[in-house]
Amino acid sequence: MLQQTLCIIKPDATHRHLIGEILAYLEKNDLAIKALKMLQLTKPQAEGFYAEHQGKPFFEPLVESMIKAPVVVAVLEGENAISHYRNLMGATDPEKREKGTIRDLYALSYRENSVHGSDSEDSAKREITYFFTKNEIV
Ligand code: TYD
Ligand code: MG
Repeated sequence: MLQQTLCIIKPDATHRHLIGEILAYLEKNDLAIKALKMLQLTKPQAEGFYAEHQGKPFFEPLVESMIKAPVVVAVLEGENAISHYRNLMGATDPEKREKGTIRDLYALSYRENSVHGSDSEDSAKREITYFFTKNEIV
């Protein structure tokens, strides 16, 4: 099934000049970049993006980590792109991270884990719309 998903290259990664490496990793693994932009998130923008986590103990530091430096947001397309990209990212929990995944290669910590990826069709739809208008996806 051809799907689209949202990718964010997080501040910890843009700050360390990993944008090119991460985009190359995605392209080499059969994910096509259909939309791409760099932006400095505002606090309300980061809070709105992670609204599902509001009230959790890690919410505030997570939001702060997302506004520390610019992010790169991208729409990725491919066969089963949502689960395929989640598998390439590696697990949220560092102890469960598979070798060679993006987070295994680049994450600094549990929170500063270099990339975001949508976790379902509904979240992909919501997250793509959060950052891109229809005519920005080519
Ligand atoms: P989550 O959506 O659970 O993970 P993922 O990014 O894999 O979809 O959580 C969002 C981010 O919040 C996660 O990338 C890192 C951070 N986080 C913490 O700092 N502590 C936690 O206990 C959890 C669950 C997440
Ligand atoms: Mg998530």
